[in-house]
Amino acid sequence: MAHEENKAFLRRVPLLAGLSEQQLEALAAASLRRSYPKGRTIVSEGEPSQSLYILLAGRAKVQRSDAEGKEVILAVLGSGEFFGEMSLIDDSPRSASVITLETCEFMAINKDAFKSLLQQSTEMGMAIMRGLVRRLREADKKIETLALLDVYGRVARVLLDFSEDVGGERVVRSKLPRQEIAKMIGASREMVSRVMKGLEIDGYIVPLPEGKLVLREKISSYLS
Ligand code: CMP
Repeated sequence: MAHEENKAFLRRVPLLAGLSEQQLEALAAASLRRSYPKGRTIVSEGEPSQSLYILLAGRAKVQRSDAEGKEVILAVLGSGEFFGEMSLIDDSPRSASVITLETCEFMAINKDAFKSLLQQSTEMGMAIMRGLVRRLREADKKIETLALLDVYGRVARVLLDFSEDVGGERVVRSKLPRQEIAKMIGASREMVSRVMKGLEIDGYIVPLPEGKLVLREKISSYLS
């Protein structure tokens, strides 16, 4: 029963589109479905790897920290995305930690099953490469943001990246704590609070209940 359910979940994952019924079957047998509450560390930076994870629901942050415990958020992953592939591909320790930002559901795929499928399926190899290229593009954009924009621009960039189109308006729907924004742009929480207040007073952002935000079009002027 769990096996059939796993297969049904895996069939819907874009990364695995193109696998044969037999390959999906083998993968389902090597997969476990897991649900974790907010704040749980799923993989830890520096540890050896056992599995590849596919996020089925919820959001998780990819984070690194230095010896003093200072943290930087490299990315926020959402449903349908995968993580944990880097250390499986190059046999190095985990490059970062992945921590749930809300209740998350994952599929954990056993390392050996993943490696053997990667050798069998060109399509799966291409899907992994597309995922890695997308991340590289995002990392390039982030380097540009950090190198060229001031703190207002960096905050504006994060807000725009997390916003979606709702009836023609850009809206940040999920609550974005100031501390998390600070870790994404290398600023202090206090500085982010000051910038957010300034953006609100000057009419660049309009707060809504439950931590949602409407972004006015003119916020893009901070990106140039
Ligand atoms: P791995 O090194 O096995 O464990 C940590 C995972 O975080 C890594 O694989 C990737 O899946 C993910 N990861 C690392 N860096 C980034 C990044 N810049 N953007 C998105 N995901 C990342």
